[in-house]
Amino acid sequence: MDLRATLTPVFEDRFGTIPPIIVRAPGRVNIIGEHTDYNDGFVLPMAIDRAVWIALRRRRDRQVTVHSLDYSESTTFSLDRLRSAGKGWSEYLRGVAWALQTAGYALAGWEGVMVGDVPVGSGLSSSAATELAAARAFASVSDLEWEAVTMARLCQKAENEWVGVNCGIMDQMVSAAARAGHTLFLDCRSLTFEHIPIPADLSVVVLDTATRRGLVDSAYNERRAQCETTAHFFGVHALRDVDKHTFEARASELDPLTCRRARHVISENDRVTQAVVALRDGDAATLGAILDTSHASLRDDFEVSCQALNIMVDISRLAPGCFGARMTGAGFGGCAVAIVHAEKIQEFASHVARKYAQQTGLTPNIYICQAAEGAGPLLSSS
Ligand code: GLA
Repeated sequence: MDLRATLTPVFEDRFGTIPPIIVRAPGRVNIIGEHTDYNDGFVLPMAIDRAVWIALRRRRDRQVTVHSLDYSESTTFSLDRLRSAGKGWSEYLRGVAWALQTAGYALAGWEGVMVGDVPVGSGLSSSAATELAAARAFASVSDLEWEAVTMARLCQKAENEWVGVNCGIMDQMVSAAARAGHTLFLDCRSLTFEHIPIPADLSVVVLDTATRRGLVDSAYNERRAQCETTAHFFGVHALRDVDKHTFEARASELDPLTCRRARHVISENDRVTQAVVALRDGDAATLGAILDTSHASLRDDFEVSCQALNIMVDISRLAPGCFGARMTGAGFGGCAVAIVHAEKIQEFASHVARKYAQQTGLTPNIYICQAAEGAGPLLSSS
């Protein structure tokens, strides 16, 4: 949604002028390529039409003051004395300022108002959206050239080292570099990417299970470690370098759990490239089947799904117009994603909402998503 109308009056109220700069950065949903980014592999996410927005103006000093409408809370910090203030939304701003300054950028201060409609905690990357919006804000007031890959890398650094969450590069890259109407086919090693158009007759639907398990961080780190150990076993830098045949030739030397984990990553990388071909050919049936296989692999081999996600995926597949569905994001709750015939979208959504509520007693959130543009300034008169 366009949140300019929400931000502008609040900005005017506080600063007595219309905002000279408005920036936004989107959340994301991953179509396919799960738990492959930290293995130097391939991913195919798209930015969603839900974003973090900031209306701002430059300050002459080195203070940053931001009011969050979502948290009804303000934060102020000096770019000369960056210190963590604990947890919460403002750490993303401090972290990005820290990462940019560490990389040698000379930053100006600014003041503004922030609001977002990326649901927090459901796996749609509200944190990456906040980081990229902050980076865009700093870039605008400090006259930095916007280089999407560099900015995504620095925002990931903020998340890893300042906030302390060990994520890969996918979320920041798609928030930084997405194109409207397209998915982003990204090589997470070289960070080269291609925008692949989404055929007009297909809709991407995000299905929030309304569940989130607390163990996600430790399980994520454990999976990463398992992948690194296996790459080491094969004598390569990352699992990206192990192809199916090499893996199969030596699979019996691995213990069963390690073997399953590696099989997911290696087969998922192949599925991403197959999905890109299917998308280019407009072959929704094949694309859907690839998503279904990905879900089975995440559920049985990588073991990051959960009951709510499995129920959601099973219901979706049987719903009108659905070509395929799978869990998306880190897992252990959060969202599934489905590819649905555009004409059947309302029927699909009401069917899934009803059945999921019947089977789980939970009310799902269903988002019919448009592929949005990556982080950008909207108007800049200064
Ligand atoms: C989270 C991380 C991403 C990626 C996914 C799993 O969303 O932030 O970097 O690893 O999990 O594909």
